[in-house]
Amino acid sequence: MSPRDGALIRAAYGEHVDHVPVWFMRQAGRSLPEYRAIREGIGMLEACMRPETVVEVTLQPVRRYGVDAAILFSDIVLPLKALGLDLDIVAGVGPVVAVPVREQEQVSRLPEFDPNRLEFLQAAVRALADELGDVALIGFAGGPYTIASYLVEGGPSRDHARTKALMRGAPELWHELMARLVEIVAGTLRLQVRAGASAVQLFDSWIGGLSPRDYRRYVLPHTQAVMAAIADLNVPRIHFGVGTGELLPDMASAGVEVIGVDWRVPLDRALGRIQSGQAVQGNVDPTLVLAPWEVLAAEATEILRLGRAAPGHIFNLGHGVLPSSDPDALARLVDLVHAFPVEDGG
Ligand code: CP3
Repeated sequence: MSPRDGALIRAAYGEHVDHVPVWFMRQAGRSLPEYRAIREGIGMLEACMRPETVVEVTLQPVRRYGVDAAILFSDIVLPLKALGLDLDIVAGVGPVVAVPVREQEQVSRLPEFDPNRLEFLQAAVRALADELGDVALIGFAGGPYTIASYLVEGGPSRDHARTKALMRGAPELWHELMARLVEIVAGTLRLQVRAGASAVQLFDSWIGGLSPRDYRRYVLPHTQAVMAAIADLNVPRIHFGVGTGELLPDMASAGVEVIGVDWRVPLDRALGRIQSGQAVQGNVDPTLVLAPWEVLAAEATEILRLGRAAPGHIFNLGHGVLPSSDPDALARLVDLVHAFPVEDGG
């Protein structure tokens, strides 16, 4: 069996499955003691650039949980770092860029996509695809808006005020920046699929801060360009953002097979806002993993029940695993999902 025949890819294409597939955003990471052990004394970006470490960390949650997919251990800002941009990922903070990108001069000087500088990524993906057998390997990239937000702000930001100021105050420069990022994002996704990734996810995490009108004007055309640039690869494309309830119809028009839904929107409501035929992924509130098991189990069961109305449902959290999560609760959750009957027997 290959990943193409596995539950995750089948669900993404709306095909019949024998169980609901499940994986967790940020399933690799600080919630796992084996991850904390391997990261001791190694910086995040350094770890992401060592193929052996990437392979090991990517496999850790697969071994522990028996999830239907691995997600490559990397970060949305890693391609920019590898291409030569001066940035770091600061523990407990997030990506920090040495010189924020706000002027024409800095946009012009952004590095071009160069697959030779991402060879470590290809090597890691190839090794993982070999190792994983029928478990899907999800390649990913950040969405252009979310990456742009780190570049323009210089680091994490609550309101993305400078990003929005650039977008509205210098729309030509904004679209030039976004077009440059589209090249890097599409190139990174293509490279991962060519090396063996069986699905891709575009994490445009922070688009939920935009109105639908701004999203359509300043972001959606670029997301569509990314998706069009990988359409010929014939792998399912998953599109995810946080707080996207009002954006779902527009996100659904980006050219994707699967829409990631955060926990704020019930799956039945999300289904009414996307295209018929599109699968959904989600959407347990990540903080519910910390709740008593009965509470988590009841919520997960309700989500599975709502997911039956979708052409395909990939079970996940509505955002990343919180570092304080108990791995045993996630293991139990995987078992619950796998035991859930795909068809309503009653
Ligand atoms: O298991 C997985 O999901 C794959 C690995 C993964 C990481 N980052 C590893 C990581 C993925 C898919 C990402 C994507 C990412 N990175 C996003 C989009 C997804 C989302 O959560 O919305 C964003 C916005 C980033 C930027 C970023 N990188 C943030 C906000 C942080 C957290 C900072 C912190 O320390 O709390 C990072 C660092 C990061 N990326 C960590 C991991 C495991 C933690 C670093 C560490 O372990 O020291």
